[in-house]
Amino acid sequence: MRITFTNPSIPKSGTYVTLIGDGQLMSVPASSANLLLDSALTRGLTAFGVKGKKGEVIDIPTGKGAGFERFIAISVGNPQNFNVLDAQNLGGELYARLAGSGLKQATINCMAPSGASVEDEVIAAEIAYGMKLASYRFTKYQTSNSEDPITVLSSVNIQTKNAKEARQRFAAKNKVAEGVHIARDLLEEPPNVLYPESFADRCLQLRELGVEVQVLTDKHMAKLGMGALLGVAQGSAKPARLVIMRWRGRKGEKGPLALVGKGVTFDTGGISIKPAGGMEDMKYDMGGAAAVVGTMAAIAGRKAKADVVGVIGLVENMPSANAQRPGDIVKTMSGQTVEVINTDAEGRLVLADAMWHAQKKFKPSAVIDLATLTGAIIISLGGVHAGMFSNNDDLAEKIDAAGKSTGETVWRMPLGRAYDKQLASRVADMKNVGGREAGSITAAQFIQRFVVDETPWAHLDIAGVAWTTQSKPTSPKGGVGFGVRLLDQFIANNFEK
Ligand code: BES
Ligand code: ZN
Ligand code: ZN
Repeated sequence: MRITFTNPSIPKSGTYVTLIGDGQLMSVPASSANLLLDSALTRGLTAFGVKGKKGEVIDIPTGKGAGFERFIAISVGNPQNFNVLDAQNLGGELYARLAGSGLKQATINCMAPSGASVEDEVIAAEIAYGMKLASYRFTKYQTSNSEDPITVLSSVNIQTKNAKEARQRFAAKNKVAEGVHIARDLLEEPPNVLYPESFADRCLQLRELGVEVQVLTDKHMAKLGMGALLGVAQGSAKPARLVIMRWRGRKGEKGPLALVGKGVTFDTGGISIKPAGGMEDMKYDMGGAAAVVGTMAAIAGRKAKADVVGVIGLVENMPSANAQRPGDIVKTMSGQTVEVINTDAEGRLVLADAMWHAQKKFKPSAVIDLATLTGAIIISLGGVHAGMFSNNDDLAEKIDAAGKSTGETVWRMPLGRAYDKQLASRVADMKNVGGREAGSITAAQFIQRFVVDETPWAHLDIAGVAWTTQSKPTSPKGGVGFGVRLLDQFIANNFEK
């Protein structure tokens, strides 16, 4: 989809969209279109009782006289309350409406009804961003040409008084959208195609953006003592990989931000095998790693002035004659030992070694890990918020703020000694599970044992938000790419100043 920005003028063909609002039904562009339409808009507003509530739409096929063939007036509600996120969602909804009816070309006049609290050029860029996010489809394995009309919209012209500024603002947003699309591609790829080595190969493509990328093989990891990560991988015919990505957008006075991702390319559960129903979903058990890769692409793409390192642990969790058993004891890179009670609690074993390596090697000023870690977080928070666990209130507040402003929200969950005790093992330093109660919290407690000293750390359990079965304005069904927008904003707010 090609997106261009120009100054306002009434188009001679295609679909013409204008914004209206509460008390501003006849915004300036709407009323000039109305003139060309013989007052069809005025009649439509009355006939359908449009009051200007957010999301109300008038959609009119026009006669020959107007030039353009279809006219849409869409309401932003009270212009004073219309914010950046609303503009993104409006763009997403507009995309679905336009593409859903098989249109090829559209012109959107983004002049906001007067009184809007956000400038026109910002609204224009954010609408474009929302459309781009909504336009994602994963069709590469569909060979029959049963043309999905949703993919037809190929050209969108966004009109605003300050086209140059909107264009510049969108250029950066577009890089974030591209990062989200990269993450979604990784989530959607089937597990026979995407496994640790092929995932690592994809990461190498980030070099084109100026990201330093290093891939550690299983042999290298064995030398480093990553017994927990390798224990998970040992049942698979596919060898494990650890990918380290670094974007140095500034020379660091303080250590970099470290992002650590769980990259289980398929989670059968291992010997503690999962039930068959829905097991195919476990291809998205690499959602944490996808978020890290997408974020690295976003910040490198927009040349963020920040120093960020991404570390992802890539394994496939399979049962086999060589698989890890319940009862095995593994030694982590930190030296701590783990009694593996349930081979399906594998994510924390992968993260333990990836986290340790990230901190020992890079001395980061903060660490954020992301993982589709527990089914329990889905029970707690559903698909609405990611679960956040942190040892540092300041870090937690900053992540929370970035979440609210991007719509990728987090909900803070507790940590504490009482929960940590559930991990006690009779024969090793800890068990890898803490029993049925508080499953997401004991998983977080496990990871906290691999935080070096007092490094500010946050863990985001994204099991409930990495994938969506309902389409949302800026996330079609399927892989969400959750975390890319959140982390990009967190970095922009806190690591580029
Ligand atoms: N990958 C799963 C968690 C998950 C579940 C992610 C559903 C996305 C959707 C994880 O490895 C797992 O199996 N966790 C177990 C832990 C249990 C054995 C302590 C779980 O949540 O049941
Ligand atoms: Zn599992
Ligand atoms: Zn898993």
